[in-house]
Amino acid sequence: MQVETGIVQEHFDIGSGYRRLTLSAPTVCPQVKPGQFIHLRVPGLGESLLRRPFSIYRAEAGAISVLYKQVGKGTRELAFLPVGGYADFIGPLGNGFPLPHPENCIPVLVAGGYGVAPLSLLARNMDLKGIVFVGGRTAEDLLCLEDFKEMGWALEVTTEDGSAGLKGRVTDALDAWLSKGQKAIVYACGPDGMLEAIDKRLLQHELPGWLSLDKHMGCGVGACLACVQRVHTEDGGTRWKRCCCDGPIFAAGEIDWEFGKDAS
Ligand SMILES: Cc1cc2nc3c(=O)[nH]c(=O)nc-3n(C[C@H](O)[C@H](O)[C@H](O)COP(=O)(O)OP(=O)(O)OC[C@H]3O[C@@H](n4cnc5c(N)ncnc54)[C@H](O)[C@@H]3O)c2cc1C
Ligand code: FES
Repeated sequence: MQVETGIVQEHFDIGSGYRRLTLSAPTVCPQVKPGQFIHLRVPGLGESLLRRPFSIYRAEAGAISVLYKQVGKGTRELAFLPVGGYADFIGPLGNGFPLPHPENCIPVLVAGGYGVAPLSLLARNMDLKGIVFVGGRTAEDLLCLEDFKEMGWALEVTTEDGSAGLKGRVTDALDAWLSKGQKAIVYACGPDGMLEAIDKRLLQHELPGWLSLDKHMGCGVGACLACVQRVHTEDGGTRWKRCCCDGPIFAAGEIDWEFGKDAS
């Protein structure tokens, strides 16, 4: 883990309301594992404001790229960062997906929203090609489909309004595939509801898998406890883990999904 100041090499719209930001990162780039993230200080927001976490989409040629959507103050300000400008970040952070994947298991990726970013990097780092399920509310929410096609992965697209691919949820398409009974390992990244639904299916089918969980973060390095998640332990109890450094990747069956629901 390093703090690095990167020069903006490219920064442009990629459609669906997302932008791609590429920063030089000669120190961080060679250390990146798929599923890790950077904690970026947004220039213009001031030193006192929190950094923002973004999954690493590409780490190559001494640079890293992220894909982000403008959802609030930080990401709106980030969009003004010009090519040639500077931004500092801490990275790579988090545990990343365990690799290599087990032999004789088809890798199955399931993505919602910007969850395709870390899964695209994961696919690029796998020897075996598998199948990827990408879901969104509408065709506008789908990202990076070409990445997977270019890599030769099978692709199943779902949208809730039927504007692209099968009409329904990503779990509908996954259910149909899982019902064939193939030996698989699942890697998923997306909204909590999607991850919880996938986790349930992995338990039902007794399949291994890894889920990438996004929690609001403060420090990003394990010190502030802003990102804690309650997890199940092997002896039937529970304990706390920090999403930023013990995660963001958790094993199937590990996350206690009831945590936080009482408060809402
Ligand atoms: C490990 C990790 C990886 C991430 N990777 C990406 C990525 O690759 N691309 C991307 O676009 N975003 C990613 N995010 C989410 C991103 O960090 C937030 O969208 C960003 O911090 C919002 O900052 P903001 O100042 O624009 O919005 P804020 O003004 O802080 O918030 C705007 C809205 O976004 C919600 N929000 C903020 N942070 C999160 C979060 N962590 N999870 C869910 N909702 C949140 C807020 O509740 C609010 O509704 C990731 C988050 C984590 C924890
Ligand atoms: S964000 Fe501070 S401990 Fe995880």
